[in-house]
Amino acid sequence: MTAERRPRVFVARRIPEAGLAPLREATELSVWEAPLPPPRDALLAAVAGCAGILTLLTDRVDAELLDAAGPDLRVVSNYAVGVDNIDLAECTRRGIPVGHTPGVLTETTADLAFALLMAAARRIVEAVDFVRAGRWQTWDPMLLLGADVHGATLGLVGFGRIGQAVARRAAGFGMTVLYHSRRRADPAVEAALGATWVPLDELFERSDFVSLHVPLTAETRRLVDADRLRRMKPTAILVNTARGPIVDTDALVEALRAGSIGGAALDVTDPEPLPPDHPLLRLPNAIVVPHIGSASRATRARMAEMAAANLLAGLRGDPLPYCANPEVNRRRSAR
Ligand code: DGY
Repeated sequence: MTAERRPRVFVARRIPEAGLAPLREATELSVWEAPLPPPRDALLAAVAGCAGILTLLTDRVDAELLDAAGPDLRVVSNYAVGVDNIDLAECTRRGIPVGHTPGVLTETTADLAFALLMAAARRIVEAVDFVRAGRWQTWDPMLLLGADVHGATLGLVGFGRIGQAVARRAAGFGMTVLYHSRRRADPAVEAALGATWVPLDELFERSDFVSLHVPLTAETRRLVDADRLRRMKPTAILVNTARGPIVDTDALVEALRAGSIGGAALDVTDPEPLPPDHPLLRLPNAIVVPHIGSASRATRARMAEMAAANLLAGLRGDPLPYCANPEVNRRRSAR
């Protein structure tokens, strides 16, 4: 790519240098430097005439944005494994490949899911608040009693890469692992992970911890509704590191208030972010962290490299190394 013919690229937020450096070298790069996502009108203006756009899960990519980018647009690269912010069908219809970052964040996200599970079980946030408030006066036989993680039953909703990585952690704690997914895993995988497929309602009824690991789609939106929450044990804890809208937030608040479930530990919420006066932030049996599942230094740097590699491949007209709509490539090569 010669200097005068460098393709224009817009990156919708500052990402680690590992991703920006290769883009700076090969493209006419513009980065949205503000800490908050570009407002819609600024995003639409910024992508005009771009050949490549690097988006985040906070940026909606739809027909309006693709129109605003115009006919030079060759690739959209999402800095996330999830692509629910993108109208994939519309990109595919227009022959625009969409990159994403699968695999690299699996273990890091599973680490956080397990950390949240343990924090909720052993009431770590309440305990830290208790000490910080100067309320620790003595050893107390009845103080901050929580639930055992070892030997408990874990229900995994979704058994893809991240669900299976959580199952591996659960094995180390001697947990019974149930899972539900549309397609049953290979029996060898089930055996290696000691995981048993059960119908979804049974999973909610039997589990001490339910952890969500499905993408957000039309089928999974509000999958955890009032009825599913009612099926959970009164001591059970819901963990969500997937996407907020998989859970009906109002029904969850109600269940936590009524004590019909034991607790919730959420990395993702609906809405996201939660307004500071949201009831979930007032409930002692809810832990909320700000969508940090993949937030380790190494993983975020690797995601940036992958997102840049996807973008540069798309600019060259090559198949993306990590493509969310590979049918675009198949269609191209069939021409
Ligand atoms: C993703 O990649 O989809 C996560 O939610 C953010 O890393």
